[in-house]
Amino acid sequence: MDSPEQISPELIEELIRRAQKAYQSAYVPYSNYPVGAATLWESGRIIAGCNVENASYGLTICAERNAVFHSAYHGERRLKAVAVAVPTDAFPSPCGACRQVLREFSQDCLVILVNGKGQTKMTRLSVLLPDSFGPEFLG
Ligand code: THU
Repeated sequence: MDSPEQISPELIEELIRRAQKAYQSAYVPYSNYPVGAATLWESGRIIAGCNVENASYGLTICAERNAVFHSAYHGERRLKAVAVAVPTDAFPSPCGACRQVLREFSQDCLVILVNGKGQTKMTRLSVLLPDSFGPEFLG
């Protein structure tokens, strides 16, 4: 399991900065709720994403899934941490679909939630998605 201790405070700060930068690219004409996500992989690479909405609302993609899918394209498979940032006062919380997509590449990564005041809340994927199903069930 990845414990927070394995990730330096500097790297966590960098991950937070990248998530905050990512929400500035969000395309959110319908919700006006920009979200940025930055994923940290075992390779050391950080890959970010933002939410991109669609006039056919259900086609919207969340920031977390955008970051993970883009990372998969770059060959990443082992997720260490994800930071999710929003400009609003309330902390963000990854939706159920994104939790399951994060779970595909980590059994229990660090999850850092960042609000618009720059406050952070640390949690873990195993807390957000207990008793989860994942790829290893398929043998
Ligand atoms: N959204 C994300 O991108 N990530 C989250 O963690 C929560 C929800 C997006 C989807 C949609 O564009 C907007 O936020 C409102 O639901």
